[in-house]
Amino acid sequence: MVLQKNIVKEKLLINGNWIETEDTHKVYNKYTGELFSEIALADEKTVDFAIESAVRAHKEVDFPVEQRYKVLMHTAKLLKEHEDEIAEMIAIEGGKPITDARVEVGRSVSTLELAAIESKKLVGEMIPNHSTPGRFLYTIKKPVGVVAAITPFNFPLNLVVHKVGPALAAGNPIIIKPASDTATTTVKLCELLEEAGVPKGYVQCVVGSGRTVGEQLLNDERIAHYTFTGSPAVGKHINHTIGLRKATLELGSNSATIVHGDADVQKAAQKAAKMATANAGQVCISVQRIFVQDSVKEAFIQTLVEEVNKLKVGNPVESDTNVGPMISEKEAIRIEEWVEEAVKGGASILTGGKREGSVYYPTVLTNVKKGMKVVDEEAFAPIVSITSYDTIEEAIELVNDSKYGLQAGIYTSDLSLSYKIPHLLEVGGVIVNDTSSFRADQMPYGGVKESGNGKEGPAYAIQELVDTVTVVVNLEE
Ligand code: SIN
Repeated sequence: MVLQKNIVKEKLLINGNWIETEDTHKVYNKYTGELFSEIALADEKTVDFAIESAVRAHKEVDFPVEQRYKVLMHTAKLLKEHEDEIAEMIAIEGGKPITDARVEVGRSVSTLELAAIESKKLVGEMIPNHSTPGRFLYTIKKPVGVVAAITPFNFPLNLVVHKVGPALAAGNPIIIKPASDTATTTVKLCELLEEAGVPKGYVQCVVGSGRTVGEQLLNDERIAHYTFTGSPAVGKHINHTIGLRKATLELGSNSATIVHGDADVQKAAQKAAKMATANAGQVCISVQRIFVQDSVKEAFIQTLVEEVNKLKVGNPVESDTNVGPMISEKEAIRIEEWVEEAVKGGASILTGGKREGSVYYPTVLTNVKKGMKVVDEEAFAPIVSITSYDTIEEAIELVNDSKYGLQAGIYTSDLSLSYKIPHLLEVGGVIVNDTSSFRADQMPYGGVKESGNGKEGPAYAIQELVDTVTVVVNLEE
């Protein structure tokens, strides 16, 4: 543990140079509250210059597939070499338990490798032509142009890599506006990309608020594509602002998991306890609503509460910590108020319901109902509610009774149900015999309804970052 003792001073990578600006953003240790780093804040001129440099790089700097592959693979290797340092950074500035932070670094290595592989697989297609003989038809894939990525605090490395990897693999320059409170990790990633040989102007980082830097990026027509992970409110604002330009939007969710009467209830409860509280619940697919069949309700609740009570809450840099602080005290107070509101409306707290500064204790609720924020809205906190149901039709209706639709889980030993249920749930992904909170980085990931549009996972994201150009060759001329 070396990082905790020093204040890290960070510059921004703009047009291949590391620059300072007048103002800085202070990043704090989310558990101790100590100052951790100070990062240069991008002003209007800096953002403008970043966009200009990206446009110039796109026009003038050749970035062939072989080089894209090498840069991405080399960055993956460097990330692996810096695993200890970066995991510690994520634990300190993101409040993520160090064991989970290490998993995030490992996942990011794999995401970069997957993106590198995709760079070599980008192909157009030949179109059979029976209607107009003498014309040969095919398509090519071209990079869309400058991409802007607006990224969240909860996975400050892997969710950035999920945007940078596919953008570079497709041959696009990318400008990253990371969540300011976890931007030290993004700046480190930029350092490694630079060391790996990313061409000047292809990766730039602008730290600043949504109201200033974010708005400037959204309103600049030189940017061709936006890729965003965050709240539905901001997602909608992006869509309204950018007109006909495109955006990939990974938004929130109040994800559900069904525990059917024929399932392994113990296993389901053990996993649910972990996945409702991982990263203090600040995961878009965190288990927030559990629907359990009446026949197994008591047994499920008993194990779930026992498992939640075993979790160690504390300092994220300690290797036995399961649940660290939330990103800010303000957020912990918000969830405290939501739980209080639910209790006033008739909900019962089975465990938790306590706050100390920015730490909110893992909380299990029951007797909740529609109209409570803990049910209807994305909690993004270590809380979970349990509601029982009689028939599977009822459970499906409960899951779908949501404005969100990212992922859902179902525990069942009924094979035919596991085939039917993905057709009936209004979500982008169904996880059978696991909770909603499962993601492998190669899989398509993205939701329906207010959970967004477009898919991430390098093989899918890259398709959103290329234009398909149709070519017609008149062979009779
Ligand atoms: C998210 O919070 O959307 C990302 C979840 C993950 O990558 O595991």
